[in-house]
Amino acid sequence: MHLVALLFLTELSVRKIVIAGNWKMFKTQAESKEFLEGFLPSLVDTPQDREVLLCVPFTDLNLLSQSLHGSRVNLGAQNVHWEDNGAYTGEISAPMLTEIGVRYVIVGHSERRQYFGETDETVNLRLKAAQKHGLTPILCVGETKQQRDAGETESIITNQLQKDLVGVDQNNLIIAYEPIWAIGTGDTCETIEANRVIGLIRTQLNNPNVTIQYGGSVKPNNVDQIMAQPEIDGALVGGASLEPASFARIVNYQ
Ligand code: 13P
Repeated sequence: MHLVALLFLTELSVRKIVIAGNWKMFKTQAESKEFLEGFLPSLVDTPQDREVLLCVPFTDLNLLSQSLHGSRVNLGAQNVHWEDNGAYTGEISAPMLTEIGVRYVIVGHSERRQYFGETDETVNLRLKAAQKHGLTPILCVGETKQQRDAGETESIITNQLQKDLVGVDQNNLIIAYEPIWAIGTGDTCETIEANRVIGLIRTQLNNPNVTIQYGGSVKPNNVDQIMAQPEIDGALVGGASLEPASFARIVNYQ
């Protein structure tokens, strides 16, 4: 019995906590500079075992790479193409990102799936390309309100994972469970339910130590409750990551 408990604790402790901001299409360079001036000083007491990261628009990456140098905040992009270069107007490749110090990249966000024709097949290609160049991808999965109401949450997520993760290295991967109906709506998923779905996602993986975040209306007033859930290893934060005090409160959750 003691051994089982010890193994359980050992397993828990290996999962890294990652709190990430996703700025989406917000902030010019001037605005990002102003954000950092307010945000970085709030991290002095942030526990060292929390990885903090900002996923910003392409035009902000270079500036943030320089401004974050020597800080404890890591840098992420919001998309990556699967080829190293080529005739792909409007796309960015992994070598272009790693060259300027980007370490993470969001792949398969529901906004890309909904508005820009992202499919599980292209998500899979992007994940593999990111890993090939040493980036850590954050794979987003989640169901629509309609799918949830039809009782399809489990099958949709299982299906996304099966297709997206073919040939993907689970030792260099973060997953974000983002129920689409909870994104930008203030309609946070019940923490117990988010914990349940994330537990389900974990059963689909062959590496039990993959960090799995929750995303969807994470705010200063609900982050403590969300992070208290045993299966939830972090948060992917949209709107509330745009304002220094609000994102600092989330990063410094109790
Ligand atoms: P909100 O936090 O604004 O709901 O956005 C969540 C999200 O899409 C993060 O990727």
